[in-house]
Amino acid sequence: MKLRDVVAEKQVIVCCGAGGVGKTTTSAALALSAARLGRQALVLTIDPARRLAQALGIPPTGKEPVEIDATVLAHKGVAVPDGGSLFAWMLDPKVVLEGVVDRFAPSEADAERIRKSRLYQALGDVITGLQEYTAAEALYAFQQEARYDLIILDTPPSRNALDFLDAPRRLARFLDERTLSIFAPDPNKKMGAVLRAASSLVATALSRTFGPSFAEELQSFLGAFGKLFDKMRIHADGVRTLLRSDKAAFIVVASPDEAALSEAVYFKGRIKDLGLTTEGFILNRSYASDQPVEAPGDLKGRLGDHAPFALRDGLDHLEPLAEVERARIEQDRKLLAELREEGEETGQGALALPFLDEVVEDIPALRILSDYILAAR
Ligand SMILES: Nc1ncnc2c1ncn2[C@@H]1O[C@H](COP(=O)(O)OP(=O)(O)OP(=O)(O)O)[C@@H](O)[C@H]1O
Ligand SMILES: [Mg+2]
Repeated sequence: MKLRDVVAEKQVIVCCGAGGVGKTTTSAALALSAARLGRQALVLTIDPARRLAQALGIPPTGKEPVEIDATVLAHKGVAVPDGGSLFAWMLDPKVVLEGVVDRFAPSEADAERIRKSRLYQALGDVITGLQEYTAAEALYAFQQEARYDLIILDTPPSRNALDFLDAPRRLARFLDERTLSIFAPDPNKKMGAVLRAASSLVATALSRTFGPSFAEELQSFLGAFGKLFDKMRIHADGVRTLLRSDKAAFIVVASPDEAALSEAVYFKGRIKDLGLTTEGFILNRSYASDQPVEAPGDLKGRLGDHAPFALRDGLDHLEPLAEVERARIEQDRKLLAELREEGEETGQGALALPFLDEVVEDIPALRILSDYILAAR
């Protein structure tokens, strides 16, 4: 499938790849492209550059996605047809977690109890993979709302970024019922002697280490959190089913450097391990689609001996620079060809996005990238 068709037809696109290759930028450009095709697009970004967040008008701790005003887009030279819209949201684990608690806590009192606990405040640091979990949770919640035609998910700069597919399982281990029952015994359930002993041992150890109020707080927190757990598990399955369906596409972003190909292949492998397929690659920040520069020597030859000496001399000096430029274009084209081959068996191959000299963190720059995605250039 061509990238343009992916943007036009899929319901979910996940952008992954090594750190700093341009996942966040590409995610925004893909969302803008979908809006230009008349779709309602939502981009879920992770830690966008401040300028990009400003350009998209995303507040740092917004509770809801914000829409980028069509008139603002029009003013920046981006025409969005009727029906098209661009929403953006910054994935902040704390905000998403709050939403989870609000939605799932059995009662307002439970929700309040969870939110008030010191532990909850520190939870962002406590549970590994929380960011991935919240990404999956947000994706699922928005998809269920069916308010958007396309949701684009940015991923964090980690080789384990796709762990979010496994994150619910890891969270599950953390909140394993046996662990929970040791830390926070359910008063309505009968406990075996061993468990009871373990439980009181843990309680004593905790209050000795952290003071009795912390131990109580922890138990109360885990007790309430445990009730959320079943519903989370249902969601985890929902996310996996959604991402395995043909409504979703995984795009691996790469940027030319020595490790680019092996990193891209690594991500393709991870995606495959998870039972998913890579729709294709994007080679970002590349010179692959540039026109090869004319050799200054050739130009000099065409100008002939009548050209002013300063010009001919200048052209001589440009030769090494042109050589570097040509080598770079050639190298990027070779990389692009290799990525195409990697992507061919499963999907669209690879698309090159140009290196933009100007700062890429604004709407006009995103539009240029979007032109390439929509194959308008
Ligand atoms: N096509 C491009 N041309 C020029 N600069 C670019 C291009 N794409 C991205 N950049 C710049 O490269 C930097 C990294 O981009 P971005 O934040 O999108 O990468 P990322 O993969 O999301 O990074 P991280 O892994 O840290 O989340 C940014 O400063 C961005 O402005
Ligand atoms: Mg990023």
